[in-house]
Amino acid sequence: MKIRAAVLEEFAKPLVVQEVELADPGPGEVLVRLVACGVCHTDMYTASGVDPSGYAPTVLGHEGAGVVERCGEGVSLVREGDHVVTLFSPQCGECVHCVSPQTNLCLAIREQQNRGYLPDGTTRLSREGEPLRHFMGTSTFAQYTVMPEIALARIDPEAPLDRACLFACGLSTGLGAAMKTAAVTAGSTCVVFGAGMVGLGAVAGCRLQGAERIVCVDLAPERLDLARGQGATDVMVGGADAVQQVLDMTDGFGADYTFEATGSVAVMRQALEAARMGWGLCTVCGVAGRGETLDVVPRLLITGRRICGSSFCGLKGRDDVPALVRRYLDGDIDVDPFISHRIALDDVNRGFELMAAQDGIRSVIEL
Ligand SMILES: NC(=O)c1ccc[n+]([C@@H]2O[C@H](COP(=O)([O-])OP(=O)(O)OC[C@H]3O[C@@H](n4cnc5c(N)ncnc54)[C@H](O)[C@@H]3O)[C@@H](O)[C@H]2O)c1
Ligand SMILES: [Zn+2]
Ligand SMILES: [Zn+2]
Repeated sequence: MKIRAAVLEEFAKPLVVQEVELADPGPGEVLVRLVACGVCHTDMYTASGVDPSGYAPTVLGHEGAGVVERCGEGVSLVREGDHVVTLFSPQCGECVHCVSPQTNLCLAIREQQNRGYLPDGTTRLSREGEPLRHFMGTSTFAQYTVMPEIALARIDPEAPLDRACLFACGLSTGLGAAMKTAAVTAGSTCVVFGAGMVGLGAVAGCRLQGAERIVCVDLAPERLDLARGQGATDVMVGGADAVQQVLDMTDGFGADYTFEATGSVAVMRQALEAARMGWGLCTVCGVAGRGETLDVVPRLLITGRRICGSSFCGLKGRDDVPALVRRYLDGDIDVDPFISHRIALDDVNRGFELMAAQDGIRSVIEL
């Protein structure tokens, strides 16, 4: 079938929205009619050409939600008409990582997905007979996509898809950082560095875990206002003295849990230094620039601080994403303040411009 999609033709150039060809779903694959898709930093990062693992041409987009249109042979996990959130982090349920409660890094289709192919090593996307690669196994800047069934989370059909799409990446990543990776305990003190989509999600996750004190640190006062709306009890403008300020607020000890959601290695270091001696856990969510390294004073670790990180913040997508969407429907998570702009697929490059200008938290493409 012919579909409209936003193609990254060349790095550091605007995406080109155009008609491309999408083949039928193969065995274990599903055709999804996309309804909404968030614009995330990773899309822009890859488009810029800075991402060392990036490839072009490809159809970008990974924060999608839609409706199952047709199932390929042998598909048993979803049915026609199901509402789904796309997962760049699949869950086969069978590999050594899927059966371990300790990680969400499913191994089933990793290699092919990283290279832009579906599990059988080919693409369903093409243009004039030439294959077009699938980005992150999702390619959701498009009217339709074909994805493996293990990479689709079936959600409650009552959830509006233009909100549910945020659970495909940014919002779930932040929530997961607090709820899964760190598993924040009730009554604790938490500090979240960064109040973008991920940091705000982490603030909400700390609140849902019953943290007593949640400090959010950012450079932008309007983002700190949003953090208060998500449950931050204290806010602070970031900078060189942020660690000292956290120590001053915690009798000189530091916080039980700290989170970094900025992508800056300097802030990652601050987040570790602001973690409490004895048991403070620092969770790194941000993706650093190519070649950057994290500078850690080993004494901080010997005295009981720990540092960890995770992709999609530990969430096992098919199990955990529907549960988070359920909590949204139950009124526990306030999604609307994150959606700052609604745009058409043709305006996808404007979504990148808004993001680069830090104008709002998320642009959602209505497909
Ligand atoms: N681990 C994962 O699976 C995963 C998934 C999605 C995104 N990410 C990464 O998470 C990071 C955050 O993503 P986002 O969408 O929220 O980004 P964002 O740019 O919207 O937010 C980052 C925030 O950090 C703030 N900031 C910058 N410097 C700061 C400082 N010195 N002190 C305090 N705050 C500071 C900015 O003002 C901004 O509000 C990015 O690096 C992104 O690539 C990781
Ligand atoms: Zn993302
Ligand atoms: Zn697996």
